Amino acid sequence: LPGAEVEEWRPGAAPADHAVVWSPPQQLFDEQPQLKGIFNLGAGVDAFLKLRLPPGARLVRLDDAGMSVQMAEYVCHAVIRHVRELDVYERDVAQGKWGFRKPRERADYPVGVMGLGVLGARVAQAVGQFDYPVVGWSRSAKEIRGVRCFAGDDQFDAFLAATRILVCLVPLTPQTENILNRETLSKLRPGGYLINVARGAHLVDADLIALLDSGQLAGATLDVFRIEPLPAGHPFWTHPKITVTPHTSARTLRDETIAQIAGKIQALERGESVVGVVDRERGY
Ligand SMILES: NC(=O)c1ccc[n+]([C@@H]2O[C@H](COP(=O)([O-])OP(=O)(O)OC[C@H]3O[C@@H](n4cnc5c(N)ncnc54)[C@H](OP(=O)(O)O)[C@@H]3O)[C@@H](O)[C@H]2O)c1
Repeated sequence: LPGAEVEEWRPGAAPADHAVVWSPPQQLFDEQPQLKGIFNLGAGVDAFLKLRLPPGARLVRLDDAGMSVQMAEYVCHAVIRHVRELDVYERDVAQGKWGFRKPRERADYPVGVMGLGVLGARVAQAVGQFDYPVVGWSRSAKEIRGVRCFAGDDQFDAFLAATRILVCLVPLTPQTENILNRETLSKLRPGGYLINVARGAHLVDADLIALLDSGQLAGATLDVFRIEPLPAGHPFWTHPKITVTPHTSARTLRDETIAQIAGKIQALERGESVVGVVDRERGY
């Protein structure tokens, strides 16, 4: 942004037109009521819902910026690793064992994607490329080629009943907090598997452990946690049916992010509209 003055924010900093932030403190917004644009360095804006933002400022989320391909890669890997039992082969090989396992029918492993936005839609289509049956669920009705789409609270149970491998990609809002719990996860097809790549507060941790230990669920791949880093001693670290990664499924990529935010600041300054403006009422 040649011509722009760019400064690191500190308490008492001069007033700015736009702020580019990750986990900002309330003090920043209290001191900068004139802000026109607040650009989050990520897609999820749940951390902002608890803050008081300048009423005139647009809150803008990162819109893909190279995240959807990473998310598609991560989820396809987790699905394939589970269905093809690559985790089991890894354990066998580590013990010098040449194991044989009967091939599984992919028709028996329908994948359900909760949230069909920028990331979820791409994930659903990527999984479909491997011929897994794919179902999806969102707030408003969608039409995505190759994906059987469900919408709204009324169709949530039907979506869960049609799903064996559940991928969580809804934003964290008051409506979706704790949405992955004993009751909802029990509605998956028997031998269900959870992939949570959205936010830790979507999942009731103790409910997942209970369902895994009872054998109702077959396993889980978790990239996000209520407290990050995942605290030492948390049962997820060592549970034999859980795979943990350190919030790495879709990283903010520097170059794409800079290009996107710079382009949006220029567009806003020209008085144009930009995509990715958060609806604060809706919470995403
Ligand atoms: N683990 C990571 O590294 C990582 C990285 C990036 C993002 N994330 C998470 O991924 C989330 C999704 O990102 P995105 O860019 O795909 O968001 P998005 O484009 O805003 O899409 C959100 C989707 O969720 C649906 N949804 C929202 N509330 C719902 C509800 N109450 N019931 C049913 N569906 C609901 C929306 O429905 P409509 O289409 O009807 O609006 C939309 O399809 C982010 O909020 C963030 O938490 C994680």
